[in-house]
Amino acid sequence: MNMIEKFIMNHNLNKEEFVELIRLAEEDGSIRQQLREEAVKIRREHYGVDVFTRGLIEFTNYCKNDCYYCGIRRGNRNVKRYRLTKEEILDCCENGYVLGFRTFVLQGGEDLYFTDERMADIVHAIRAGYPDCAITLSIGERSYESYKMLKEAGADRYLLRHETANEELYSSLHPKEMSYIWRRQCLYHLKELGYQVGAGFMVGSPGQRMEDLAADLVFLKELNPQMVGIGPFIPHHDTRYAAEPAGSVERTELLISIIRILLPKVLLPATTALGTLDTCGREKGLAAGANVVMPNLSPLKNRRQYELYDNKICTGEEAAECWGDLAARVERIGYRLVSDRGDAAV
Ligand code: 5AD
Repeated sequence: MNMIEKFIMNHNLNKEEFVELIRLAEEDGSIRQQLREEAVKIRREHYGVDVFTRGLIEFTNYCKNDCYYCGIRRGNRNVKRYRLTKEEILDCCENGYVLGFRTFVLQGGEDLYFTDERMADIVHAIRAGYPDCAITLSIGERSYESYKMLKEAGADRYLLRHETANEELYSSLHPKEMSYIWRRQCLYHLKELGYQVGAGFMVGSPGQRMEDLAADLVFLKELNPQMVGIGPFIPHHDTRYAAEPAGSVERTELLISIIRILLPKVLLPATTALGTLDTCGREKGLAAGANVVMPNLSPLKNRRQYELYDNKICTGEEAAECWGDLAARVERIGYRLVSDRGDAAV
């Protein structure tokens, strides 16, 4: 049995084998095709032609962290900072609900203004107003007690990309006050508290090698999250990586297929970063095995300010246009956007 067959059979490999798998696939289009077909088959078995939607609400771009790759890092003085009020957040949910969204993702920088009490109050209000919707938080590293309180307030899911599973690479991308150990610990805390958890990483972050991607895959298998978000690294002009090349769309597609095979029921978005690098990026992501899209529900006036990387898409269109546009794109390639909480298949 060759390596590809072994992977397809066992839904797992060791780190050295993952390196080899990626290398072989990148050398040989027929192997990429084989992995893609397997990924699409697995997705169809669990999710048919359904594509789930998440309404993304980027509610604050204040951040206490200084991640070297990120456009809204603390050190970037050129960002005009904003935070939405509770009422504005609830308005976003209302708009989204009318359009058909049944998951709201509250994403923000690590903004100290949003204390546990303020966050819990917001989550509570959404939970009360939209009992049939899932609430996903994506607000970074917090204490176990904080995660617990927010879970009790009604949050269902939590996205916290691990960014990289190689400690050395992690240290090169983040300032020294950020800890790779603590980030992983947060993910395990979230799991323990019963959240549906999302991890993930950038493809092509500065300094990333094939071994690092293999380590990410090993870590994902070990963590076994319900969601995985990956997208290409895209340079931001106000960061030290301004002149670095962006990650590869092809490599991202390949990793989407590999992750679908690795974790068959995983909820896997075709990310905005993929759509930013390639006008057909999100379609390519779906065709590679992704099954989630996350259109923006943030108020138009703030969209451009949540600039993690250059040329981010969907900063100019209304959420409704985004839904319509996406629905058409998704249908054109044989899928359908569904109005559903979109929990992971059991
Ligand atoms: N390019 C691509 N993705 C980025 N992120 C942050 N900065 C960039 C960038 N320059 C991703 C990180 C983070 C998520 C919210 O956005 O992986 O976890």
